[in-house]
Amino acid sequence: MRILSGIQPSGTIHIGNYFGMIKKMIESQDDGELFAFIASYHAMTSLKDKEALENNIMEAAINFLALGMDPEKSTFWVQHDVKEVLELYWILSNHTSMGLLERAHSYKDKTAKGIQANHGLFSYPVLMAADILLYDSNIVPVGKDQIQHVEMTRDIATSFNNVYGEIFTMPEAKVDEVLQTVPGTDGAKMSKSYGNTIDMFGTAKKVKKQVMGIVTDSTPLEEAKDYISCNVYKLCELFMNQDELTQMQKRYATPGEGYGHFKLALLDKINDHFSPYSEKREYYLNHKDEVREILAHGANKARKIAQAKMEQIREVVGLNY
Ligand code: ADP
Ligand code: TRP
Repeated sequence: MRILSGIQPSGTIHIGNYFGMIKKMIESQDDGELFAFIASYHAMTSLKDKEALENNIMEAAINFLALGMDPEKSTFWVQHDVKEVLELYWILSNHTSMGLLERAHSYKDKTAKGIQANHGLFSYPVLMAADILLYDSNIVPVGKDQIQHVEMTRDIATSFNNVYGEIFTMPEAKVDEVLQTVPGTDGAKMSKSYGNTIDMFGTAKKVKKQVMGIVTDSTPLEEAKDYISCNVYKLCELFMNQDELTQMQKRYATPGEGYGHFKLALLDKINDHFSPYSEKREYYLNHKDEVREILAHGANKARKIAQAKMEQIREVVGLNY
């Protein structure tokens, strides 16, 4: 079973990204053959800055390697290192109706927000279909916002297969229904666009500032506090085991401690949780050539599969005269 996932290189990652997506992706290395790539071409739809794109790609690679992406077990590469995907993108464009793309929620949402639409943004789902179909992916783990893109991929594949025969494997989106939305420091969904994040790899000072800035009510020290509605406790649930949580509940129920104390307990747990990854991340930050080698190795593995698939596709469509 082949599992494929693309990650947009967005630079900094917060604990919402980690628990919502990255952790699951790393764990899926045990469920099947994982193909994971950094979606550099897709990032160009929103990023038009050379330095930022280059830095974000490297940063995403380092973060994923630090968090446990195993380049031997899995195939891990940067999208634009396997150019075959662009050839397939063109071929698939001819099996994609305008209406299908016009119905895409992500495109509609972005234009509704006033983002100037260009062709890259409009045809984004076709490139995503090429990513998925080029590697005969079976399972595509995605967030809810991406389900429609996988459905569009199936539509495009069906339309192609109807003309040329069973060339493409039908992918399935895998959505984690129980996935909890990680709350931000203000209680709303943690998101870099809301400025309510707790960084995974921020400096000790920054992470402390973020944790100490979690919004709480103003119950005074000498009163018992309600843990159920508390943003600090909700984040504790991600980092503490049941015993530790029971202990926290007792502390909330006992007057004498304030939210500042609970925040410090949370901060300790966050630091304990991520420090092993920070060390590995530090290593890769100082060995970027090694990271480039790993990515080149991944691209070679992916390219072999992509080339074989493209030969098959060129043959059936009439590009192999
Ligand atoms: P952001 O909202 O900060 O811009 P992205 O949209 O780049 O984050 O999300 C990248 C991945 O992280 C997606 O798969 C998304 O589902 C996941 N993710 C982001 N924020 C959260 C959150 N607060 N809780 C759970 N998962 C999240
Ligand atoms: N569009 C995805 C996102 O924004 C990233 C992506 C690009 C992707 N190509 C893909 C995800 C192929 C899964 C499969 O999160």
